[in-house]
Amino acid sequence: MNRICETLSINYPIIQGGMGNISSSELASAVSKAGGLGTIGTGTMSPDEVEKLLVDIKMLTSLPFAVNIPITVTPYFKEMCELVVKHDVKVVSLSAGNPSPHISFFKEHGIKVICVTASVKHAMKAENAGADIIVGEGFEAAGINSSLELTTLTLIPQLKASVSIPVIAAGGVGDGKGLAAAFVLGAEGVQMGTRLVATKDSPYHSNYLDQILQSKDTGTVIVGRSVGKVRRILKTSYSSMIEEAERNGVHPNDFAKMTAEDKHIIGAVEGRLEEGFINGGQVSGLINSLPTVEELFVTMIREASETLNDQSLQFNKFKQPNNG
Ligand SMILES: Cc1cc2nc3c(=O)[nH]c(=O)nc-3n(C[C@H](O)[C@H](O)[C@H](O)COP(=O)(O)O)c2cc1C
Repeated sequence: MNRICETLSINYPIIQGGMGNISSSELASAVSKAGGLGTIGTGTMSPDEVEKLLVDIKMLTSLPFAVNIPITVTPYFKEMCELVVKHDVKVVSLSAGNPSPHISFFKEHGIKVICVTASVKHAMKAENAGADIIVGEGFEAAGINSSLELTTLTLIPQLKASVSIPVIAAGGVGDGKGLAAAFVLGAEGVQMGTRLVATKDSPYHSNYLDQILQSKDTGTVIVGRSVGKVRRILKTSYSSMIEEAERNGVHPNDFAKMTAEDKHIIGAVEGRLEEGFINGGQVSGLINSLPTVEELFVTMIREASETLNDQSLQFNKFKQPNNG
């Protein structure tokens, strides 16, 4: 039995990454209904806004889902913890900050804790503090990123070697090959963001979805290195404007305004791509279809299985060189 499926009571070891501020109970419930774990991201939303999403998703499905709380991003950390308990949420994912002081609170309420990390040190700290699952997020990923900039390919095996709780790979996974690769590296599940945005169950603006579908290998850019606030977004005229501001030595406060959550909503939900940004991971270059979440998961599982079988046949054919 796969430890992720067992711990989270799901069919497929596939979880939705938090998508704060543009979270949708429809998309999260579609992920849970398709056999994965849907996630309601809280971002900087108010407790009332999040509570509405929780009420909505519970009307759409009785299956488990998670709530993502980005620790240093939300102004309402305490209120979010209370909401999770009040609504009997089974799983919480903690990102963007040090989860260690908070894990025991959730454990005392019987809630499973997933910690999103981007380094071995942080993963080990989270395990010691009682986390159930580690998400290792490589810098291929969409959205707020670690300034450490480790890739998924190198991060996952090192996490696997350093913690005994199961590891989920995030950043760059969008198909069955990515799923298979994550497992070969030692992950027991995957977390996806960008690929789930580009589905028929996604409520985001068609301009956002089109941008992912048209994206090539170099279709995303990291902004914010100059101010220590690293974020991966899709290349648009708005991202060029942010880059230009950084080249001109933008003040951190002005950068914060340009990448504030209202600008995310303008881009992702309203589709005004000249006036707001859209998060997107490097996996965008691999995405050229708009399946339902259910179709996506079924295809991914089949493709992962076929890929692993094909590859093992190929490796059997290699022969050791005769150096004599
Ligand atoms: C639109 C969007 C919003 C995101 N917001 C959050 C967030 O609020 N909290 C968080 O921990 N991660 C956030 N992420 C990152 C995802 O949870 C996930 O880890 C990441 O997208 C995985 O990489 P991928 O895009 O290559 O699949 C966001 C990603 C996207 C695409």
